[in-house]
Amino acid sequence: MNVEAQLEATIRDLVDGRRGILAADESTGTIGKRFAAVGLESTPETRRQWRALLLGAPGLAEAVAGVILFEETLEQCDDAGVPLPEVARRAGLVPGIKVDKGTAPLPGAPGDRVTHGLDGLEERLRAACARGARFAKWREVYPIGPHNPTPLGIEANAEVLARYAAVCQSLGVVPIVEPEVLIDGDHEIDRAAAVCEAVWHAVFHALHRHGVLLEYTILKPSMVTPGRERRRAPPEEVAEATLRVLKRTVPAAVPAVNFLSGGQTPEEATANLDAINRRRGNAPWQLGFSFARALQQPALEIWAGRPERVAAAQAALVRRARLAQLAMAGSYEPAMEAA
Ligand code: 13P
Repeated sequence: MNVEAQLEATIRDLVDGRRGILAADESTGTIGKRFAAVGLESTPETRRQWRALLLGAPGLAEAVAGVILFEETLEQCDDAGVPLPEVARRAGLVPGIKVDKGTAPLPGAPGDRVTHGLDGLEERLRAACARGARFAKWREVYPIGPHNPTPLGIEANAEVLARYAAVCQSLGVVPIVEPEVLIDGDHEIDRAAAVCEAVWHAVFHALHRHGVLLEYTILKPSMVTPGRERRRAPPEEVAEATLRVLKRTVPAAVPAVNFLSGGQTPEEATANLDAINRRRGNAPWQLGFSFARALQQPALEIWAGRPERVAAAQAALVRRARLAQLAMAGSYEPAMEAA
């Protein structure tokens, strides 16, 4: 298959109008924090067990089209000895890979960060493809503060995202472009909207500069919400702000916007996604999810390393994915949480 046919086939599999993406690509540091919160030690073996539990959840592929994996997972197998990317593929989930190397301070822009990992990116992508990955993810972060993100931070991060996306497409790998505007802080929703507008605008300007084909690109943005330390905004308000800024900045050629959950509770992220889809009007993109915490958290609390809880944890994961799927259709009701 040539590169463009490969990109097209992957977009067709990931963007089918009814399913989202599971992010299971926490770095070793991040998964360590999630495990510690449920009293579980993070070792290669506990991480293997957890990722095998997620990928083996019966019925997951009815609500999830693809799964983002961490490098380590590519090398691990389930209890039957089947490589985990192959477990995903057999289950009907397109395997993807997180290829960034995490963030570091951006010199010249105090308070901002930039993501490392462009060096050796092509080799890492080729190795991941050989293990079955068909799409990739790269995350840049933008803290909101009185002086952040700076204009330099916005430009530098956009440039890196675009360089990553161009390398992916040259190898036939669909890039998920993730500019995460952080939820931390006590800012109003209007401030988050202004930051998201500047960030998304810069990202698409950079993608254009680098010749990235938007038809084969997925955007993974934050929802526009007030800072975590503020009173929560009603879902209608989040939806209106998010749609307004998306319409101002994201070209219609982009097939899908798959939101991250970014520290919202599962219920909150699902209700907000639902409100976004109820108010979508003539929005040209599929509006779905690529949640990590909002899909995994309840399941992780149930499992916490106990083999006898695997089936219950898998059911909790699939339940969250189904609710998120209903939200993609604008037919989620908070009352479903009690059922
Ligand atoms: P959350 O949904 O937990 O924000 O994670 C999404 C993700 O992939 C962060 O990079």
